[in-house]
Amino acid sequence: MKLPEHVEAAIRQRAGEGGTLNCYIYDTRPMREKIAHLARIMPEGVEVFYAMKANPHPAFLAAAREAGAAGIEIASLGEAEKAVAAGFSPAELIYTGPGKSPEELEWAVSRGIRTLHLESLAEAHRLEAICDELNRGQDVLLRVNANFDIHEAQTTFSGGSRKFGVDEEKLGEVLPRILKLPHLRFRGLHVYAASGVLNVDDLLKNCELVFGMAQAIEAEHPGVVCDIIDFGGGFGIDYLETGQDFDPEAWARGLEALIRRFGFFGRTFFLELGRYLAADSGWFCTEILDIKESRGKKQVICAGGINHFRRPAALAINHPLAIVRMHRPPLFTGQESVRDESVYFGGPLCTGADKLANDVHVEAADIGDIAVFGYAGAYGLTMSNIEFLSHERPEEIVLA
Ligand SMILES: Cc1ncc(COP(=O)(O)O)c(C=O)c1O
Repeated sequence: MKLPEHVEAAIRQRAGEGGTLNCYIYDTRPMREKIAHLARIMPEGVEVFYAMKANPHPAFLAAAREAGAAGIEIASLGEAEKAVAAGFSPAELIYTGPGKSPEELEWAVSRGIRTLHLESLAEAHRLEAICDELNRGQDVLLRVNANFDIHEAQTTFSGGSRKFGVDEEKLGEVLPRILKLPHLRFRGLHVYAASGVLNVDDLLKNCELVFGMAQAIEAEHPGVVCDIIDFGGGFGIDYLETGQDFDPEAWARGLEALIRRFGFFGRTFFLELGRYLAADSGWFCTEILDIKESRGKKQVICAGGINHFRRPAALAINHPLAIVRMHRPPLFTGQESVRDESVYFGGPLCTGADKLANDVHVEAADIGDIAVFGYAGAYGLTMSNIEFLSHERPEEIVLA
């Protein structure tokens, strides 16, 4: 991985201040540029929300706001409060995710969030009772577990038995019951197939499928219009540096063609993007504390492991890596080092699962150097086992 010069300079400066280096460095310029770029290329009606689960740090929320994102996709009351603290109004929030508690639903309705995405009939009834008590209506989308699965995606959210949404086959039974709930204003569908998708055609297939579903619903229920369609997130990031980046222009052209084919002009299309917006705005930087040889392979032990950067272990992939060479004096004569070989990177936790990377080729690394993992702006600290072993929380340094 080629580390941007200003990021390397920040690492060297921080390392020079003493203490063990273990931090995230954020520069949200790529995220801002991506939001602005998407606004330029997307067809009429597309609104880009930032899925803040990718990174809830205030710098990322500020980037979303200043770059003109339509709002924030939230999945908890905690996220809602952070988004509001960052300056978003509740009317700019869309609320997704299974298992919303009565307290969370009450907050959402009483504060006037834009849309609430129903995950089940039970949730619809719980929401209806809360709306009735508050004497307020609520715009809702129905999340559908489509009978479709993007096999090559890093994580899939539809197809098979799922905790997300209502099975496509059950729509005929569930939707009429939701339509009868007097305080819920049905506005359309939410179908989120998969995360981390690099193949544009796979995601467009999902859009086509949802458009077909919307058309069928409108044919069956005269007067009902799916005027909002939410495709979820899913735009991928080329973690393995294969050179095959996600092509948002091709996706936009494909969606435009579908809108034309289905005659869906004038409708609203939500995108809830996390990874694509945030990943390349962050680096996890952790000092190499030990290097040892174990049965033919070097084990490189860093200050932070899955307690601070869990994603590589959770998804079983290596993130791009760079080594910032610090040229520290050796601790003893004959100290191990890494030279042009494939090695294992782990953290300080007492579990074999504490893996940062495996079989990764490294030109040169010594104790005291800084291992820097790229594409760590999304699902970095936020999905890590931060309490495990009670190490100090890594600092989050914001450059811009
Ligand atoms: C409901 C929902 N929307 C959006 C996202 C963001 O997905 P991504 O980071 O792939 O864009 C997620 C991720 O899990 C999600 O669950």
